[in-house]
Amino acid sequence: MKFFADTADIADIKDLAATGLLDGVTTNPSLIAKSGRDFIEVTREICALTDGPVSAEVVALDHATMMKEAEILRKIASNVCIKVPLTIDGLKTCKALTSEGTMVNVTLCFSANQALLAAKAGATFVSPFVGRHDDNGFDGMQLISDIRLIYDNYAFDTEILVASVRHGVHVLEAAKIGADVMTAPPAVIKGLFKHILTDKGIEGFLADWAKTGQAIG
Ligand code: E4P
Repeated sequence: MKFFADTADIADIKDLAATGLLDGVTTNPSLIAKSGRDFIEVTREICALTDGPVSAEVVALDHATMMKEAEILRKIASNVCIKVPLTIDGLKTCKALTSEGTMVNVTLCFSANQALLAAKAGATFVSPFVGRHDDNGFDGMQLISDIRLIYDNYAFDTEILVASVRHGVHVLEAAKIGADVMTAPPAVIKGLFKHILTDKGIEGFLADWAKTGQAIG
């Protein structure tokens, strides 16, 4: 499963990129606002930090203006992936852009039928928001399972990008279902490295090592 960082924070992205485990980045208008940076400028910087796709979201609601915005965004770097909302105009834009070879991430997906439409529109990625789904009394992981089943039934190439990930259990369940990608805030990704028994184990080994009085090298 690929790991994308869901952030526009350059320091966090650099940190994660240094692990060698970062496969891409997703941003959205809220994350850009949180960064306090200029959209184009920060997106350009992010694109230079990873070879993987960097999702940059259009803000227009109509197809013609979405296309104009996408034209500006895709000039930023070759790894920009245009993010469009799951609406009729969003999917028209998706179809047009992917037909020209531009990567598209269809975002704000909350049903398996919506995911089916995104795949038919040729989406590179579809982003079902599991956390927001759970928050509203639905079963986010059941949604991922349903999309996996449908995409496998018809051998769709669209990658399932599990979004709105809140914790490690979301990551684990997404991996068990066979989602292609998950995007999570840096704190959630860093949390995956941690286990209390790993910390305790290191502590014990180092205490015993100190008793030997030896050094390596
Ligand atoms: C996905 O691409 C979105 O940016 C993101 O995962 C939304 O997550 P949130 O529900 O935590 O805002």
